[in-house]
Amino acid sequence: MLLGPLLVLAIGAAAAAADPQAKYRPLPSLREQDALERSWVKARHAFVPSVLKKHGYDAWLLSMREYGEDPAFRALVPTTTVFSSRRRTTLLFHTDASLPNPITWIDNTPGVWSNLNATLYALDPARIAVNIDQHVAFADGLSAGERDALHANLDARYAVRLEPSREIPVEVVAARVGGAAQLAEYRRLQENVWAMVAEGFSSHRVRVGETTPADLEWWFRDRMQNLGVTTWFQPSVSIIRKDGTGDVVSPGDVLHVDIGITAMGMNTDTQHLGYVLRANETAPPAGLVQGLHNANRLQDFVREEMVPGRTGDEVFFATKKRMADAGLNGTIYSHPIGDYGHSAGAIIGMSDIQGAVPHLGSNKVLENYWTSVELAGETYVPEWGRVVKFPLEEDVYWNADTRTFEFVFGQQTQFHLVQPARGGLGYLAAKLGVAALWSQAK
Ligand SMILES: *[C@@H]1O[C@H](CO)[C@@H](O)[C@H](O)[C@H]1NC(C)=O
Ligand SMILES: *[C@@H]1O[C@H](CO)[C@@H](O)[C@H](O)[C@H]1NC(C)=O
Ligand SMILES: *[C@@H]1O[C@H](CO)[C@@H](O)[C@H](O)[C@H]1NC(C)=O
Repeated sequence: MLLGPLLVLAIGAAAAAADPQAKYRPLPSLREQDALERSWVKARHAFVPSVLKKHGYDAWLLSMREYGEDPAFRALVPTTTVFSSRRRTTLLFHTDASLPNPITWIDNTPGVWSNLNATLYALDPARIAVNIDQHVAFADGLSAGERDALHANLDARYAVRLEPSREIPVEVVAARVGGAAQLAEYRRLQENVWAMVAEGFSSHRVRVGETTPADLEWWFRDRMQNLGVTTWFQPSVSIIRKDGTGDVVSPGDVLHVDIGITAMGMNTDTQHLGYVLRANETAPPAGLVQGLHNANRLQDFVREEMVPGRTGDEVFFATKKRMADAGLNGTIYSHPIGDYGHSAGAIIGMSDIQGAVPHLGSNKVLENYWTSVELAGETYVPEWGRVVKFPLEEDVYWNADTRTFEFVFGQQTQFHLVQPARGGLGYLAAKLGVAALWSQAK
């Protein structure tokens, strides 16, 4: 039959989904994950003295009790097997290469204080950083009770040397020091997210006229469970259409998802867009395609303006200038990502602050560091007769060879497509490339 091959060809062409193609990639066994994480944690411990020296400190003292963890704690242990601190956990990082680093006590007897005292006398640090900060949570992990306990029990000679530091906890938590092995695992997590979104935003999972955003949100959660990953926020799916939003997926809708996963002490954060083809369409309307393209340019502006050493605010204003020069509109709200979903480091705008962000915007872009480029482009879409927001999010990493921030897995430049229900005359006409004819005939 003549129609057969033609039909296959047409479907093949229409099926070109977002780029690049993602496959589900099974994670290593938990035992292997733990071994990987331990090696990354070890590298981070080895990195700490350089951060202390950079900021003129000789030691960094963290102390906490079980379940009252310092936010920096999670970045200092393998999360696959260490779920909380125990008893009183006290960590002393220092710059003496001849001693273990950190020196750790897990002890809820007064013995911890005499041991700590003896160690401080031996090391004699002139400046000891502690995590106290009124504005940045990653730098504020010393609880009020632990601070009081330190002052009550430390020898006066060292109690007066405790000094709040913002840079040390922020830069240690921000550091991605696991090298190529860690990046490969991060890329694997990203690819799984892309594969999940490609499946979720397809006719395999969407029944046009029936599926709701909540159906997809819970499908994503179940998929994560099957993949052996968890998450740090409930995924959210929404419908964007000509006259606003909607409750049930319909032809001509734009679908939006904000989704992230967690494994091996790493987190991802992704926002993609899908389009539900009408029976007479093989591609989204040109105005929507242009809007996605414009939002892609904003992503590139942020990524390119993320020059190490610049503050988040400086990146924000440089990006806004690029946007103004290009005649593009939108809002920028990008954030570091790593051991936490919204991790330590330079915040580049916030959804409700399109300007300098108090305190968080003063943190600097670092090398060996990951950021979630999160923003919404705004473009007038003639087919919808209004300005439409195109929210996108993609994680970037520092490429030491090119010395630029690059997408970890890819950049969505095409809509995920939900094909119309098979069978209708319009569907056949579209597949045979006579959409215009069909439209006129209607
Ligand atoms: C700390 O140790 C030093 C040196 O051994 C000692 O002189 C001092 O009394 C100790 N301080 C406290 C509070 O135990
Ligand atoms: C950005 O906004 C300005 C001012 O409203 C408008 O003239 C311009 O066309 C917009 N750009 C895009 C790409 O929509
Ligand atoms: C598809 O049909 C709709 C009306 O149902 C029309 O507005 C649109 O222009 C058509 N699209 C194409 C590509 O023919």
